[in-house]
Amino acid sequence: MARVYPAVCSALAAFSLGSFGCASPSLGPPDTSAKPASIELAPAPDLDPDPNVVSVVLRAAAERLELLPGKTTTLEAYAGTLPGPLIHAKRGDRLQVHFENALAEPSTIHFHGIRLPNAMDGVPDVTQPAVPPGGSFDYAFDLPDAGLFWYHPHDDSVVQVGSGLYGAILVDDPNEPAELGDETVLVLSDISLDDNGALVPPATDMDSVIAGSEGNVVLVNGRVHPELRVQSGRRQRLRLVNAARARYFSLSLAGHGFLQIGSDGGRLSEPRSVQNPLLAPGERLDLLLDPLGAAGDSLELVALPYARGLSLDPSSEAELVTFRVVAPESPPSPALPALTNTLTPIDTTNAEAVTIALTMDQQGDSLTMGINGVPGSDAPPLHALVGSSDVLVVQNMTPYNHPFHLHGFFFQPLDETGTPAQPLMQKDTIDVPPITQIKLAVTYDDRPGMWMFHCHILDHAEAGMMGMLHVME
Ligand code: C2O
Ligand code: CU
Repeated sequence: MARVYPAVCSALAAFSLGSFGCASPSLGPPDTSAKPASIELAPAPDLDPDPNVVSVVLRAAAERLELLPGKTTTLEAYAGTLPGPLIHAKRGDRLQVHFENALAEPSTIHFHGIRLPNAMDGVPDVTQPAVPPGGSFDYAFDLPDAGLFWYHPHDDSVVQVGSGLYGAILVDDPNEPAELGDETVLVLSDISLDDNGALVPPATDMDSVIAGSEGNVVLVNGRVHPELRVQSGRRQRLRLVNAARARYFSLSLAGHGFLQIGSDGGRLSEPRSVQNPLLAPGERLDLLLDPLGAAGDSLELVALPYARGLSLDPSSEAELVTFRVVAPESPPSPALPALTNTLTPIDTTNAEAVTIALTMDQQGDSLTMGINGVPGSDAPPLHALVGSSDVLVVQNMTPYNHPFHLHGFFFQPLDETGTPAQPLMQKDTIDVPPITQIKLAVTYDDRPGMWMFHCHILDHAEAGMMGMLHVME
């Protein structure tokens, strides 16, 4: 497995690029004044004056950006930024996205996690024709849930996501208690670059497909190891999404734990303490953090090595963000309010158990990944009725982790007794460890159509680990 992030670091350190911030004692603290760009995501301008309508343009095109100091990378991006601009709305708003495809290949936009009508789901040849080069498509739907969601293409996704096409959608909850923390959206990803900063296309040999495309350069909001200013005494709220093709992030901040208050589809029923929250591709986390330290201190958020069943260089830890503690500019955060959130456990008494086995077949040089032994393209769809509930029994038959993602609906993970696990949560993507079975309860609300499910290691999905679920009236 090519994890050359530390090598990239030392190569750059040799040119003594102090602001690059690799963990080398000789580099010293990054020079903040030399940091060119802030960690903030570019906002997507809202072109509609109606306070309840958010209307944005996402034009996908080739762009030239500087990711490594002094090097130009030609990649693909929405609205000229990496990641694409942050779409910010509130629950109940209508979201309109005018998508323009200025790429050389067809594309679509999938709005990951949003409970939208099937025709807006962005799956080429299933919910819409792919948008050809030079074409456009207008997406429009209501936002029924608060939470952090994201958008990405659903066509040739290893290449397109790997080229830089992804962005976040933050949907606020107008009824949420104020002052949970100073909020920052963090889009975690990676990109494969050579020494000159040029994009390296994904490898397609069998071992690379099994490993999944992990980029050698880890990015947070499109930047290498950026810095976030945190005021001492102020609680931080970190809204994270994993937009990487294959990389898992096991978060760690020395001397600190986190309070998890939300997951994919909004807040948990109760907060829970977590030490090293794991974020698989496609998943989101809503974390509170009380940074310890006085002005001038800095803290490092890192991703610990996580093997996913692969053999792994034990030293490969990735630096994510430096929290730079600065003197308070605002009053200290008030005590945390009660954060219970009313979620109803899905009643599984009459639910049908549906087995979805994640399978892999390796014959000599050929590799087929599939669902229940059949590659997605050959498999007949599963069926369900609007209003019914299923227990999805997801069986990982392989020695590797797979993040299972269902389009269009949230599920609740079940515990050993078969009831929704506490705290309750609404998930659309969940890690399934090797040779393990998990159970997920789902209710199909009134949005019939052909919905996709797949592994969110995009190389695996394209190798066949995907299927369809036909929700019928
Ligand atoms: Cu983010 Cu079909 O996925
Ligand atoms: Cu997988």
